[in-house]
Amino acid sequence: MTALPNSTVIAVIGAGTMGAGIAQVAAAAGHSVLLYDAMDGAAAKGRDGVARTLSKRVASGKMDQADYDALIGRIALADSLAALAPAGLVIEAIVERLDVKQSVFSQLEDLCGPEVILATNTSSLSVTAIGAGLKRPDRLVGMHFFNPAPLMALVEVISGIATDPAVAQAIYATAAAWGKKPVQAKSTPGFIVNRVARPFYAEAQRVYQEGAASPATIDAVMRDCGGFRMGPFELMDLIGHDVNFAVTNSVFDAYFKDERFLPSLVQKDLVDAGWLGRKTGRGFYDYADGAEQPQP
Ligand code: NAI
Repeated sequence: MTALPNSTVIAVIGAGTMGAGIAQVAAAAGHSVLLYDAMDGAAAKGRDGVARTLSKRVASGKMDQADYDALIGRIALADSLAALAPAGLVIEAIVERLDVKQSVFSQLEDLCGPEVILATNTSSLSVTAIGAGLKRPDRLVGMHFFNPAPLMALVEVISGIATDPAVAQAIYATAAAWGKKPVQAKSTPGFIVNRVARPFYAEAQRVYQEGAASPATIDAVMRDCGGFRMGPFELMDLIGHDVNFAVTNSVFDAYFKDERFLPSLVQKDLVDAGWLGRKTGRGFYDYADGAEQPQP
């Protein structure tokens, strides 16, 4: 199966941390992109964020002004789900809740043509379960980007029990054509990376909760001595605690409450406080005044 041609319109639903980045990736690959978000102003904010990031590349001479103009010009804002009908591939990157994702996909089924591929960027929900209520679950596939989507190479292509192998192949080829390193996996809880990474977050939070060391110390050890690009606390702040906590809960539930995946009360506290990490200016660290470097 070959990649979707550049003439295919890509719709992205959810213009937050991931959706905006995915829109950038698809537009950079030459596709026209329709970006939609249910929250007023969020799609424009998402595109503005992409423009801000890329304008720094223009300023530093890493990107031509003409390429910048063309890329940003390829991202159009959509004001309803119905406006996504011209898309050949819809990538959903909304809140990590099964009921909300199911509802969006069942609305899309009635709005989009029969050949449209429906993809979810879910981090941990079952692709099989998301597709369960659909008339055509065979065209639903996981297309799991990593954060930040424009920089991270990996894309997990996740097949649910009903996913048509040709659909998974098309998404695999498309991700590769977009310069990514795709990997195929079945829809098991957490897929590959979010399953393997759970103990990285959980044990770090337990070490902190037991008073053994601070987040800054643990991060420094893992980053500077352990060879990880980011420590667990700075990475959770980047991901967003609402998202990371939802993923842990989902993996915990999916493995029948196996205590290896027990969610952290420290992280629950951050979610309850609305301290969601970089995106809200505060998480384990303080990003006051847009500080690039977190303050412990
Ligand atoms: P986010 O909170 O930054 O953005 C989500 C956006 O979706 C918000 O702008 C919200 O207004 C919008 N939204 C919510 N419900 C909607 C609906 N019914 N229709 C249209 N828009 C809606 O979340 P983020 O981090 O971008 O995560 C999105 C998805 O990507 C989740 O499924 C998450 O698990 C997954 N993901 C997140 C990663 C991360 O590091 N944050 C990494 C990989 C996947």
